[in-house]
Amino acid sequence: LTSKARSRTGHRADLAFTAIVRQDADELSDLFERNADSVSRTFDPFPLTRSSARRIALQPRSDAFYIARLSGSAAAMSMLRGFDEGYDVPSFGVFVDSALQGYGIGRRFTIWTIEQAWIMNCPAVRLSVYGDNARARSLYNDLGFIELESSLVRRGSDQIEKVVMKLERHA
Ligand SMILES: CC(C)(COP(=O)(O)OP(=O)(O)OC[C@H]1O[C@@H](n2cnc3c(N)ncnc32)[C@H](O)[C@@H]1OP(=O)(O)O)[C@@H](O)C(=O)NCCC(=O)NCCS
Repeated sequence: LTSKARSRTGHRADLAFTAIVRQDADELSDLFERNADSVSRTFDPFPLTRSSARRIALQPRSDAFYIARLSGSAAAMSMLRGFDEGYDVPSFGVFVDSALQGYGIGRRFTIWTIEQAWIMNCPAVRLSVYGDNARARSLYNDLGFIELESSLVRRGSDQIEKVVMKLERHA
C-alpha cells in the first residue's frame, strides 16, 4: 500500500474505540489468541492468552482497558494501568492485530487512549518500550513522549534495552 492508502485506512470512519466490558470477553480472547505468537515479542506486560482476556473483560478494576474495532471487528487493544496499584501516572500499552499493523490504527488509538488519561486528570502517562521496537518508538517520539531512562533487561535468552518514556499532560 502507498502511504496515502495507509493513512486513508487509518482515517476510516468505521474505526471505533470503547472501554472493554464483560460482553467483549470472547472477542478479546480471540484477538489475544491470534496475536500471541506475533505480538508477544514486543508487547509482554501479560501473556496474550484467553485467560488474560477473560480477566481483563470480567474483573472489576480501576485500570482501564480499551478495544478498537474496525468495521465492527476487534483490531487492537490499549490500556492505562497502575490505578489499581495506587499510581496517578498510568502506564500506557497498545497492540494492533498483526494483520492490521502499519495502517494508522496504532497512531489514532494511542492518541485517543492518552486523551482518556487527560480526561481522567492524570498528570502524565508513562510507558516502556523495547529499544529495537522502531515503529513504536518513532510513534511515541512523534507524540511528544520523552525518554526518561533505559536499562538492560532479559528477554528470553537475550539482553535487550528497555526504554521508559513519559508524556506530561501540560508539556
Ligand atoms: C506499535 C504499534 C502499536 C503501532 O501501530 P500501527 O497501527 O502498526 O502503526 P501506525 O500505522 O499507526 O504507524 C505509527 C507510526 O509508526 C511509525 N512506523 C510505521 N511503520 C514503520 C516502520 N516500518 N518502521 C518504523 N516506523 C514505522 C511511523 O512513525 C508511523 O507514523 P506515520 O503516521 O508517520 O506513518 C503496532 O505496530 C503494534 O501493535 N506492534 C506490536 C506490539 C507493540 O510493539 N506494541 C507497543 C509496545 S510498547
